[in-house]
Amino acid sequence: MEIEQRRPMGAAIVTGASRGIGRAIALQLASDGYDIAFCYRNPGSDVEELHQKIEQLGCQVFSQACDVSDFDAVQAFVKAAKAALGYVNVVVNNAGITKDKPLALMSEADWQSVLSVNLDGVFNICRSIAFDFIKGKRGCIINIASVSGIYGNIAQANYAASKGGMIALSKTLAKELGVYGIRVNVIAPGFIQTEMTDKLNHKQLERILSGVLLQRVGTPREVADAVSFIASDRASYITGQVIQVDGGIVI
Ligand code: NAI
Repeated sequence: MEIEQRRPMGAAIVTGASRGIGRAIALQLASDGYDIAFCYRNPGSDVEELHQKIEQLGCQVFSQACDVSDFDAVQAFVKAAKAALGYVNVVVNNAGITKDKPLALMSEADWQSVLSVNLDGVFNICRSIAFDFIKGKRGCIINIASVSGIYGNIAQANYAASKGGMIALSKTLAKELGVYGIRVNVIAPGFIQTEMTDKLNHKQLERILSGVLLQRVGTPREVADAVSFIASDRASYITGQVIQVDGGIVI
C-alpha cells in the first residue's frame, strides 16, 4: 500500500528487457513512473546498465535471469517481482526469439524452441499473474507479437505460428478478463532495428524496406511509445486489439 501511494502508476513486468525493444519498453515505462521488474535470458553488463538507468529515473527495479519457457522459473520470477515491488499492474510479454528457415529445412528443435519461448512463455507469465489481476480487478497485459503473426512470412513458420498463437491467446484472454476490468492488447511491430534483425543481410533488408510505406526501419523507441500509450489510462477503453507499429508494411 505504501508503495502504491508513493508511485501511483504502479509496477510493470517486462520480459526480455536486457536489450532491444524490451529495454526501450522498460525505460519508457520507468519514465512514465512505473517501478519495473524485468527478466532476461543471460546475465551481462547490459542488465547492470539498465538497472542503473531505471534507478536514476527514481523507480524501484527488480531483475532476474529467467527462461520464460520454464513454467516453474516464471512462477518464481513473478513471485519474487511482487515481493520486491509490492504488486504488479502491467505485464509486457516481450521476450522472443527467431530461428528462421524454410519449413522444408526446419528442424523439430527449431520449431519447438521458438514456440516454447514465444508462445508458452506468454502463457506462463499470464498464468502466473492472472489470479492477482482478477482479485485486484485491474491490470493490463500487453503482448509483443509481430506482423509475421498476422500475415505470415517466408522462412518463419515457427515464428509466425508462435506470434499468431499469441494473438489468439491475447484475444481469448481479453474476453475472459474484460469483466474484471483487465485489458489485454497486442502490439505487432514490423521491422525494428535491434540485434534480432541485425542478422539480416543487405539483400533481405532491401526486400523488406521496399514494402514499407515509410521506407525505413522502425526503432525500439517507437514500439515503446505504443506500449506506453496502451498501458496508460489514455487507452482505458481499448482491449482485445492488435496494434501494428510497422511503418505501413501491410494496409
Ligand atoms: P532481441 O533479440 O534484441 O532481444 C530479445 C530479448 O529477449 C533479450 O533481452 C533476451 O535476453 C530475451 N530472451 C530471449 N529468450 C528468452 C527466454 N527464453 N526467456 C527470457 N528472456 C528471453 O529481440 P528484439 O528485436 O528486441 O525483439 C523483442 C520482441 O519483439 C520479440 O518478441 C520479437 O519477436 C518482437 N519483434 C521484433 C521485431 C524486430 O524487428 N526486432 C519485429 C517484430 C516483433
